[in-house]
Amino acid sequence: MQNHDAGHAPVTVLGLGLMGQALAGAFLRGGHPTTVWNRTKARAEPLVAQGARLADSAADAVTATPLVVVCVSDYTAVHELLDPLGDALDGRVLVNLTSGTSQQARETAAWTARRGIAYLDGAIMSVPQAVGTADAVILYSGPRSAFDPHESTLRSLGAGTTYLGDDHGLSSLYDVAALGLMWSILNGFLQGTALLGAAGVDASGFAPLAKQTTETVAGWLTGYAQQIDDGAYPALDATIDTHLAAMEHLVHESESLGVSAELPAFIKALTDRAVADGNGGAGYAAMIEQFRKPKEVRS
Ligand SMILES: NC(=O)c1ccc[n+]([C@@H]2O[C@H](COP(=O)([O-])OP(=O)(O)OC[C@H]3O[C@@H](n4cnc5c(N)ncnc54)[C@H](OP(=O)(O)O)[C@@H]3O)[C@@H](O)[C@H]2O)c1
Repeated sequence: MQNHDAGHAPVTVLGLGLMGQALAGAFLRGGHPTTVWNRTKARAEPLVAQGARLADSAADAVTATPLVVVCVSDYTAVHELLDPLGDALDGRVLVNLTSGTSQQARETAAWTARRGIAYLDGAIMSVPQAVGTADAVILYSGPRSAFDPHESTLRSLGAGTTYLGDDHGLSSLYDVAALGLMWSILNGFLQGTALLGAAGVDASGFAPLAKQTTETVAGWLTGYAQQIDDGAYPALDATIDTHLAAMEHLVHESESLGVSAELPAFIKALTDRAVADGNGGAGYAAMIEQFRKPKEVRS
């Protein structure tokens, strides 16, 4: 194996789907000698044209470089690909950027530990087009000793390269936590758009106020996070009782306009439970208790 300075360290990418191609392309643009392999060989052609080396087999690919990045459909595919490689991965740092759950990440970490492979689990919070740019956010978790020597190489994938800690499950957990937030924002926008549509207002007419509201709420997060971490929820702006009254308007408006009331009714049901628990006079951050304790395990 050749020696390379840290700025041009070699890397292998296994899996050249939409995301794997973007990862390999970003490494090449970052000046890293890049070995690639894909089950369907033809998908490597554009990368070979950009200077990538196509390995003959997955085993050849993983033995080519100390750092191996895998990005395939799911963890079943990860294991179908890696399990037959025997000891070819020994002594490598394996970075798995395939999406999955924290349990799958921890199970894969245990599998690698039994084989003496240093393992980082990761999550890509961006679309392929953003990979390699200032906008790309990629999360990593696992031993710091595996991340640090390869940080500058991994930074070629995006400015938002973020190390979260030793627990291999963290990157998957942050991933789903952020996706849940994204869907809540989008569903709130769609609910509002459906309501306003009943009065002839189109989505573009709502978008500016929706964006402003989203930014205002984003500004509350740090203060609410502090209250949750402190376990004290003073109503500095509005009580949960006040929120509940406005939620009732949202439910009634939706029902009377013939728009789906499912999402507003769910939000109101959570809030009714908070009031029943005696939190009506608390600030909205007290709603965390409804998320920490699922309905089915409540006494
Ligand atoms: N695309 C995105 O916007 C995005 C964003 C964030 C995260 N991700 C994650 O990135 C991962 C890859 O996504 P993608 O968009 O690249 O998917 P994709 O375009 O469908 O590519 C899937 C890749 O997995 C390979 N593969 C599937 N089963 C395999 C097996 N049993 N053995 C070997 N290789 C196998 C495919 O090989 P073949 O070419 O031979 O079929 C292909 O290279 C997923 O976990 C996804 O959730 C994607």
